[in-house]
Amino acid sequence: MFLLLEIVLVLSLIVVTYFLLVTRVSLIINSIFQKKRGTSHIYWVYSNRFLIWLTDRPIIISAILFFNYKRLVNTVVERMNPSLEGKRVLQASCAFGNFSQRIAEKCMSEGARKVVIFDLIGNEIKHTQRKLEKNNAAKICSYLLEDAINIAHKNESFDYVLIFFLFHELPFEKKVASLKEAARVLKPGGRLIFAEFHKPAHWILRVSGRCFFKAFEPYANEMWDDFNAHQILNEETLHHWKTTKNRFFGGNYQVFTAEKIPN
Ligand SMILES: C[S@@+](CC[C@H](N)C(=O)[O-])C[C@H]1O[C@@H](n2cnc3c(N)ncnc32)[C@H](O)[C@@H]1O
Repeated sequence: MFLLLEIVLVLSLIVVTYFLLVTRVSLIINSIFQKKRGTSHIYWVYSNRFLIWLTDRPIIISAILFFNYKRLVNTVVERMNPSLEGKRVLQASCAFGNFSQRIAEKCMSEGARKVVIFDLIGNEIKHTQRKLEKNNAAKICSYLLEDAINIAHKNESFDYVLIFFLFHELPFEKKVASLKEAARVLKPGGRLIFAEFHKPAHWILRVSGRCFFKAFEPYANEMWDDFNAHQILNEETLHHWKTTKNRFFGGNYQVFTAEKIPN
C-alpha cells in the first residue's frame, strides 16, 4: 500500500515538475533570451519537437483541462451551424492538431470548401499537418505559419473562425489584437467561436484556479478579470455582435459564440 502511494507521489511530482519547466520556467528563460522575436510568450512545450511528441497523448491533453476536453470540443463543433456546405473555416492556432483533426473531419463530412489552420510555431504546423494527412479530411485543409495578431487574409474571408484555448496564453494586448483580427476576417453573418477559461462561480474553484494560473499560466488571470470579448467586439470593431456564452465545470470554462451582424 505504502509502495503504491510512494509511486503515485513520485509520478505526480515528476509530472508537475515537467509542466512547470515546459510552461512557466520556459517563459522566464524566453523573456531573458528572446526579447525581440515576438515568440517569448510561447511555452517550450509548443515549440520543441521532442516535447511536442512527448506531450501529445490523449490522456495528457484531457487531464490538462481536468477531463473537460471532449465536452468543450463537442460544444464548439455543435455551435458550427447552420450547415458547413461550401463554407470557409479558419482555425487560429492549432497546437498538437487534435482539435484541428476534429474540425477537419466535421468540415469534410458536411462539404465545407476550405479549412485554413495556422499557428505561430512551425513545429506545431508540421506536427498537425502530419497528423491530418493520415486522414481523408486533409484534402480541404491548408496550413500556414501566421500570427493571430496579424492574420494575412482579407477582411471578411471566412464563415467561421475557431479559437481553442489561445487567448489565455497571450499577453493582454495580444489577446485584444487577436480577437479583433479574428473579427476582421469573419464574414458578416459568420460565427466566431472560442473555448477558454472563465471565472468560476465558487470561491474554492477561484482560489485553486488562481494558484494554478500563478504556477503554470501567468496570462490566464486576464480571462477572468479584464478580457471582455462581448465588449471588445461591440465597442472596438465596426460591427454589432450577438454573443452567447456556455459555462462548464462550475463556470471554470466557457464556449463563447459571436455572430457578426451584417451592417
Ligand atoms: C494552448 S495551445 C492552443 C490549443 C490549440 N488551439 C488546439 O487546437 O489544441 C496554444 C497554441 O497557440 C499558439 N500561439 C501562441 N501565440 C500565437 C500567435 N500569436 N499566433 C498564432 N498562434 C499562437 C502556440 O504556438 C500553441 O500552439
